[in-house]
Amino acid sequence: MPGVTPLHIPGHKMGSDAIHAIRKIIGSEALQHDMTELEGLDILSTPTGCIKAAQDLAAAAFGAEATWFLVNGSTVGIQAAIMACSGPSDVLIIARNCHMSAFSGMVLSGCKPLWVAGVWNNTFGVVESISTASLRAAFTEARSHGLKASAALLVSPTYYGTCSNVQELAKVCHEHGVPLIVDEAHGPHFAFHGSFPQAALAQGADVVIQSTHKTLSALTQSSMLHVQGSLVQRSRISSALEILQSSSPSYLLMASLDAARATAAAPGAFDEALAASHHLHSHLPNIPGLQILSPHHLHQPAGVGVDPLRVTVRVRDLDITGYFASEWLEDNHAVVPELATDQLVVLALGIGNAASAQSMHEAATQSFTAQPSGNCSDNAADSCTIPRVATSQNGNEALEVKTLSAMCDGMSPRNAAMALTQRVETGDAAGRISAELLCPYPPGIPLVFPGERISPQNIHALQTVLAHNGRIRGAADPQLREIQVVVE
Ligand SMILES: Cc1ncc(COP(=O)(O)O)c(C=O)c1O
Repeated sequence: MPGVTPLHIPGHKMGSDAIHAIRKIIGSEALQHDMTELEGLDILSTPTGCIKAAQDLAAAAFGAEATWFLVNGSTVGIQAAIMACSGPSDVLIIARNCHMSAFSGMVLSGCKPLWVAGVWNNTFGVVESISTASLRAAFTEARSHGLKASAALLVSPTYYGTCSNVQELAKVCHEHGVPLIVDEAHGPHFAFHGSFPQAALAQGADVVIQSTHKTLSALTQSSMLHVQGSLVQRSRISSALEILQSSSPSYLLMASLDAARATAAAPGAFDEALAASHHLHSHLPNIPGLQILSPHHLHQPAGVGVDPLRVTVRVRDLDITGYFASEWLEDNHAVVPELATDQLVVLALGIGNAASAQSMHEAATQSFTAQPSGNCSDNAADSCTIPRVATSQNGNEALEVKTLSAMCDGMSPRNAAMALTQRVETGDAAGRISAELLCPYPPGIPLVFPGERISPQNIHALQTVLAHNGRIRGAADPQLREIQVVVE
């Protein structure tokens, strides 16, 4: 506001002349909006004014009954959802391919996980969904231990754009009287166009967490948590978020959430992004050796779908890894993919993608066309700095992990996180409770979570991955000569 003397926090004083370095980076206009919780600007933890109005507009636009703005990404939303649904004596049914924030959410809540394996897609080397059969089996397993699950948590869409049948999964949860939490971090756009898979809220999920910054236009870290129905107490969500979020939430982030909602809800908001997606989907498969992950590759019945804005390209038949393809695209064509695995390159489109002739999707298509194919052992492979990993057959042989589905047999994630730990030689680690997350890559699904008892089969699988040039993420010793375990 012109003429105002800002004797309040923040110290940059609405971007005064004295703070030139930050002005140079983000501009003086942005700084004028970087405010604190002053009179009239509402309070994120107990909103009654403009933040409440913006959250209500978001709830209406995304199809929720109540919406919370998040200033620490979906990470904090997932943590709060777990805390709101599960306490220290509870069992949470949770998909094995969940994001790390689900693990930290369990540390915060104190609950114990009952893991559910995903449906494995062998062609693309990814978990594509969670089946209703495995969810039902998890409820049965909880009962067989004399336990009642307090909630179920799954990821849909996955990083690769594949979706679970949330409608059927929600029905299974509701038959058991518990809420379904969906990590829809990668799908905040689903509510806004008929070309996208149906949004989790429209399919009956009770709590949905979305990274509004991932495919919509909010600033990084800006996300939303949505709730509907009566299975989750809203005051528990609010109090969990009050515990976890900053007492100085960024007004830039919150304003960006409001603006992202308005942009997404405008007519034609996704026309350009969908045109870009259409271009990639119709041209890339014509290039010999490339396959695009599409609904017909899925095991799940029709109607479950793949997000058209997530273009997952299998490059393995070019005899190169996804890591190599990703580096090559960036170095040679200034196309920067979102993610690479041994087999895949993942291109993430968003509401900001333009469909004009020189746009990124054209460049991506052209650069894939120029991609060296079929002879990675020649120049292309030699210039690849990332080792090529085992073939998918070898990887799969090593990784029976993907069929894992079981009650945690060690201690809760919280107890494991708080426990005294020691390093032991890997040969002596069988039977001990892991203090580390051991995630073989490929396929990138944790084999052992902290708190789980390490089996001889786990050790064999991990060593086989290393023998095939795979990596173990999360391990303090990447060569796995030693493993950090809990002192019992
Ligand atoms: C499936 C999934 N869930 C949750 C998150 C966390 O989201 P955020 O970065 O908004 O905290 C991510 C981040 O990549 C993710 O991939």
